[in-house]
This record gives sequence, C-alpha cells and structure tokens, in this order.
Amino acid sequence: MRTCNDPDDVTAWARSWRSEGARVGFVPTMGFLHRGHASLLDLAHARCDRVVVSIYVNPLQFGPSEDLDRYPRDPEGDLRLCAAHGVDLAFLPETLYPPGFSTRVRVEGLTSVLCGAARRGHFEGVTTVVARLFGIVGPCTSVFGEKDWQQYVVVRRMAEDLHPGVEVVAGPLVRDDDGLALSSRNRYLSAADRVRALSLHRALRAIRDSREPSVPALLEEGRSLLEVDRLDYIAIVDPWSLAPLERVDRPARALVAAFVGNTRLIDNVAVDPR
Ligand code: PAJ
Repeated sequence: MRTCNDPDDVTAWARSWRSEGARVGFVPTMGFLHRGHASLLDLAHARCDRVVVSIYVNPLQFGPSEDLDRYPRDPEGDLRLCAAHGVDLAFLPETLYPPGFSTRVRVEGLTSVLCGAARRGHFEGVTTVVARLFGIVGPCTSVFGEKDWQQYVVVRRMAEDLHPGVEVVAGPLVRDDDGLALSSRNRYLSAADRVRALSLHRALRAIRDSREPSVPALLEEGRSLLEVDRLDYIAIVDPWSLAPLERVDRPARALVAAFVGNTRLIDNVAVDPR
C-alpha cells in the first residue's frame, strides 16, 4: 500500500492505473476508521481493480461550535486497517485548500432539510471537499455509507450534475452487536450515554416494524422511545427527494438526529410500504 500526502502524486498514480484499464474505486473518510469504513473499502475492492482512500478531517464541514478540534484521530491504526482491506493508495493530505482556494460547491434543495437545517453550511463543506477529491483522484466509482443517508443522496446529486464519469454507490450501515450505528463519534460517549444512545435505533426499529401507515402516528411512537438530551429531528421521508411523507404507502426512509450528552448522533433505516 502506498501513502501519499501530495495531491499531484495521487492524481499521477490514479491516472497511470486508469491508463492500464484499471477501474479506480475511491472511499473518502475523515479517519478514525472502524468496521463501517472497512465495509466500504471491501465494497470498493469488490467493484474496482484499485482502491484509493482519503483520510482528511475537513474543516469546511464543521460549524464554529462543533468538534473539529477534538475530532478523534489515529493515522497509524487507520493505515493498518486500510492495508488489511486491500487499499492500494491512502491519501492523507495536510490540507486540501491551498492558499487562494475560493470555490464552494453547493447542492440546493436536498441540503436545506434534516441535517442541513440543523447544521448550516455542513453539506456545502462536504460537497466542496468531495468535488475537490473527485478532481484529484478521478475515480470510476466512489463508495459512501448509508449511515449518512442524506450525505449519500446529496453527493449522488452532485455527481449526476457535475461528475458524470463517477458512479456513486452506497454500502449498508454497519452496527455494533447491540444495534448502535458505528461512528467515530461514539468514542465521546460515556457508558451511561451509550446505553441511552441505543434508543435511536430502538425508535427507528419500532417505526420500521410497525404496520401503522400514518407518519404522524409513527413519529409519535418513535419520539416516545427516545432517551436523548435534545432531538434535532425524527422524520419519515421519500428516500431520494427527502420530502416528508404523510403515509408510508411507498418505500421510505426514517431518520433521526439527536444529542446524547454533548454528542450528536444520527441513524436511519429503510421503511417498507404497508
Ligand atoms: P466519515 O464520517 O469518516 O465517513 C466516511 C464514510 O464512511 C461515509 O461515507 C460514511 O457514511 C461511512 N460510514 C461511517 N460510519 C459507517 C457505518 N457505521 N456503516 C457504514 N458506513 C459508515 O462522512 C464523512 O467522513 C465525510 O463527510 C466525508 C464524506 C469524508 C467528507 O469529508
């Protein structure tokens, strides 16, 4: 496995692989990698000949009062995990924004709801860095996790609009044995908070497993199960437009975002029509 800090080196390697006819797969991450990230590397590996991973805590997607400064980091552990999952090139840039960088990429509509309403500017930071990374790597396929469902939908939209050569695919959400969605931020949770954090998945499971078609009734049930300090939202929406539904009469997505202690957690599940 190669490790690069310089974007030009990454561009050169990816270009040489493409020129040999290899399909280049790309998995962007912010590091502190866990089994959820590893599953995306495996998926990229299954679909592509070469796999590039980026590890970069992107300052543009953090709000002023968010956890940029304390975001967990473990570059050595990350590189071990990447090597064990067949990564060809790990890209760990010092920055992706050289002096003078002044471009922003913004997807409209999809980013004004759910996490976009709660975290102003967040998705603009995500799409700007992902567009920059797509430009550096030039992948055939880029893999995202369903853990961040809205991010996946937003990036797909961006790729359809701006990067027609890049196929954006999603891997399933990977959970701990007790149901908690794996996240780098789980390490902030105390033992007691971790128990309460399980209520996010419990609420979503109740919605998924219920036969009730009415969304207001389902959301009321979901809310009653949450043991959180502050609820950002719980919603049942069309999976692709993210528009709220009144009844679950077609495939839907239930999503939740809430604070447990000072930690903001998100989770989501697919909901079948009933
Ligand atoms: P990060 O939170 O490190 O996540 C990187 C990728 O791993 C994302 O596509 C995310 O959805 C996926 N992922 C995280 N936890 C997962 C889990 N439990 N199961 C499956 N996939 C999981 O998302 C970001 O970084 C950033 O916003 C990024 C796209 C890298 C842009 O900076």
